[in-house]
Amino acid sequence: MKQPKTLFYCTECGNETPKWAGRCPACGAWNTVVECPESPVKGKGRSIASSRAVAAPRALPVTELGDSAEIRFSTGMGELDRVLGGGAVKGSLVLVGGAPGIGKSTLMLQICGKLCEFARVLYVSGEESQHQLKLRAQRLHVESENLLVLSETGLGEMLEAVEREQPDVLIADSIQTLYNDALDSPAGSVSQVKDCTMALMQLAKGRNITVFVIGHVNKEGSIAGPKVLEHMVDCVLYFEGDRHTFCRILRAAKNRFGATNEIGVFEMGDSGLAEVENPSQMLLSGRPEEAPGTCVTCVMEGARPVLAEVQALVVGSAGGNPRRTSNGFDYNRAAMLLAVLEKRGGLKLSTCDAYLNIIGGLQLDEPAADLAAVVALASSYLDKPVPGDLAAIGEVGLTGELRSVGQLAQRVAEVRRLGFKRCVIPAHRGLENFPDLRLLPARNIGEAIRAALRG
Ligand code: TYD
Ligand code: MG
Repeated sequence: MKQPKTLFYCTECGNETPKWAGRCPACGAWNTVVECPESPVKGKGRSIASSRAVAAPRALPVTELGDSAEIRFSTGMGELDRVLGGGAVKGSLVLVGGAPGIGKSTLMLQICGKLCEFARVLYVSGEESQHQLKLRAQRLHVESENLLVLSETGLGEMLEAVEREQPDVLIADSIQTLYNDALDSPAGSVSQVKDCTMALMQLAKGRNITVFVIGHVNKEGSIAGPKVLEHMVDCVLYFEGDRHTFCRILRAAKNRFGATNEIGVFEMGDSGLAEVENPSQMLLSGRPEEAPGTCVTCVMEGARPVLAEVQALVVGSAGGNPRRTSNGFDYNRAAMLLAVLEKRGGLKLSTCDAYLNIIGGLQLDEPAADLAAVVALASSYLDKPVPGDLAAIGEVGLTGELRSVGQLAQRVAEVRRLGFKRCVIPAHRGLENFPDLRLLPARNIGEAIRAALRG
């Protein structure tokens, strides 16, 4: 007879291994592999996910399938629609991940307000009571008979409620609190999270319901994070930002129905999240004028140019290994730029601690931001401020040369729109000057730093 097999899962990436390991062989994370019986099911040995399947579908020749494009509808929030690739798709399963307290429930409850105008929405929360949900809905001015709220953690009860209420949109808050009592493992464990997600997927596809499922991102290994689910759902959105500041950024990590490079920008206020239509302006608000160590650049977030402020602080090191940190900027890229500045720019940075920070929780992973980082670092090192009306765009190569970047004209236009008067750009691009914006072409970092810090 076949022995019941014990399996191990990585809570970071969901990788299954037959043996326990201190380090996940797939993603390399430490202490994330946990034991999970392969089929920890009581009773008849079938989980709800598999037993409640909607009538088995028949395979059809591809030629007989209607060429129905996916049906999309607006969520009423332009920024969310943008990240979803132009609205939510009917019958899709969307995972909204993010750290606890970042505003996932707020975002979901807020879109209910608009959705209820044309759809029935069922909001199932395992985290808050109906009364709490009522208070929150009032605060967000979301009141409609089409919004049904249920405080429930049982997967079976939730499926029954869906059967009864026949909603068009289902919001499950959160996947970590959902619980299938046919399984032995506790809520939030890998097998629970996987089984419940599978059931939600069947619901979405079988009944053509759009399902949003909230997942908390946890660093601790014992709780199954949304990483485990990424490959099971249609879209993965991450809600990011610093809980202590008002700026929130929604980005798609996966989207079966659209591109993943768009971001949505929100501002958390007293009555919920407000869409930010002019992210450049918000990200630059409160920028110190005439202070050394800050420089503005323009990065492309999907099709949209966004201005970002790069801050640097360079101070003499206390000895030993100099300290380097970077926040919102790739660490290795920052180390490379420091080395180029030392070797090609002649700045003695190897004896200095260097800190790089991107304001507003933005993650700059585009080489176009290199030049602004270099200028900010040089500005801090030399203690000379970059003029407040100057921006810098360009990729820096290992010989200290400036390389051109894509969509330069669009970036420069955004810089100009926000009222900047000067912009340092790579030299070999033939862009014409505007009457109100002077372009400062530079061939290498030396020229760029001189042009930027001239005053
Ligand atoms: P919440 O949506 O509960 O976060 P999550 O579901 O991701 O855990 O948001 C919680 C935070 O948002 C909380 O700290 C309070 C804040 N908040 C506001 O600032 N304004 C509001 O209108 C609401 C509803 C919440
Ligand atoms: Mg919540």
